[in-house]
Amino acid sequence: MKAAVLYEPHHPLIIEDVALDPPKAGEVHVKIGAAGICRSDLHVIKGEANHLLPVVLGHEGSGTVLDVGQGVTRVKPGDRVILAFVPYCGHCHFCLSGRANLCDLHGATSGTLFDRTTRLHKGSQRIHHYGKVACFAQESVVPETGCIPVSSDFPLPQAALIGCCVTTGVGAAMYNARITPGSAVAVVGAGGVGLNVIQGARLLNAGKIIAVDINEGKLEFAMRFGATHTVNPTIQDPVAAIKELTGGLGADYTFEVFGSSQTVLTAYNAARKGGTVVVVGLAPTGDNVPIDPVALVRQEKTLKGCYYGSARPAIDMPVMVQLYRAGKLDIDGLITRTYKLDDINQAYKDIDGGDVGRGVITQF
Ligand SMILES: NC(=O)c1ccc[n+]([C@@H]2O[C@H](COP(=O)([O-])OP(=O)(O)OC[C@H]3O[C@@H](n4cnc5c(N)ncnc54)[C@H](O)[C@@H]3O)[C@@H](O)[C@H]2O)c1
Ligand SMILES: [Zn+2]
Ligand SMILES: [Zn+2]
Repeated sequence: MKAAVLYEPHHPLIIEDVALDPPKAGEVHVKIGAAGICRSDLHVIKGEANHLLPVVLGHEGSGTVLDVGQGVTRVKPGDRVILAFVPYCGHCHFCLSGRANLCDLHGATSGTLFDRTTRLHKGSQRIHHYGKVACFAQESVVPETGCIPVSSDFPLPQAALIGCCVTTGVGAAMYNARITPGSAVAVVGAGGVGLNVIQGARLLNAGKIIAVDINEGKLEFAMRFGATHTVNPTIQDPVAAIKELTGGLGADYTFEVFGSSQTVLTAYNAARKGGTVVVVGLAPTGDNVPIDPVALVRQEKTLKGCYYGSARPAIDMPVMVQLYRAGKLDIDGLITRTYKLDDINQAYKDIDGGDVGRGVITQF
């Protein structure tokens, strides 16, 4: 089957035929229906995040079950599924304490399936699976627990986006920060994930929602998803601007949704005393953020990471499906461009070039 393979950072993905073994026990063979273009894959392509290579990237996906391995009970051939990039083992401390997004076995088996082998290979060379999803391909084999069933009329591109940017962004607002009504929120980075933090903040009845982005087009687009104010750091100092918009206090909640030490510092400095800073973006490996520990104490800020929206995919993705169906989350409007798998390198040029919304591969 056809897949896009990354052999080396800073090189284009190679579209080629690779072998996909049948699913083993507890695994599911899926025909990919849609795959979103998220910056997390780009971090690997650019060498900003380390990963075992070669790899089939793509972690924001959806598809249709073709075939199931032994013992699979949650899905059957023909079912439509959202693919979760953190499937759960169900046995580790974090799975058992209700934080399946932090599953230990998933982290320990990065690049492979849970049994530490790959179903993807080319001749004798193993090819790794990004996030156990590897959806930049016509088909994939994934753990059963990474399959979240949706009804057969649910659109595949929208399902794919629930697989990462929607759950990550809305979850950051809803499950991690737990934004309270009327509060002031600033979101640094209004891309695919940031727009979902913004619409999550709107859903939770935030008062002011300040979108911060270096791209004017993104800022205009953010207003459609609930931003009430915009700040462009290339024109004004973002921390000063956010303070000015919040009566000199700073925001109650700030979110970093780009992925750099500089934007983390912006989010940190723009939070008011006692405020909460949620870091969603993945800064390049080795980056450090200089934070004054005494100011941290005196200002009582809370600085938190947020992985996969602090959501439990199996429980919370169906919530996103319901919110979309009820018209409370706009996923249709996020999808601004569709691509063929053959054009994936162009899709990653477009995300880096500042295209608004989310690109999605819909033809494989
Ligand atoms: N925590 C998680 O579970 C999780 C999940 C998905 C993605 N991510 C990470 O979230 C980040 C955002 O992903 P995305 O797909 O939305 O990316 P994106 O490229 O769609 O959006 C990033 C946005 O940041 C803006 N930006 C760039 N420099 C900026 C600056 N100095 N100040 C303000 N804005 C700036 C860009 O113009 C763009 O709009 C990435 O680091 C990605 O890896 C994390
Ligand atoms: Zn993602
Ligand atoms: Zn686990």
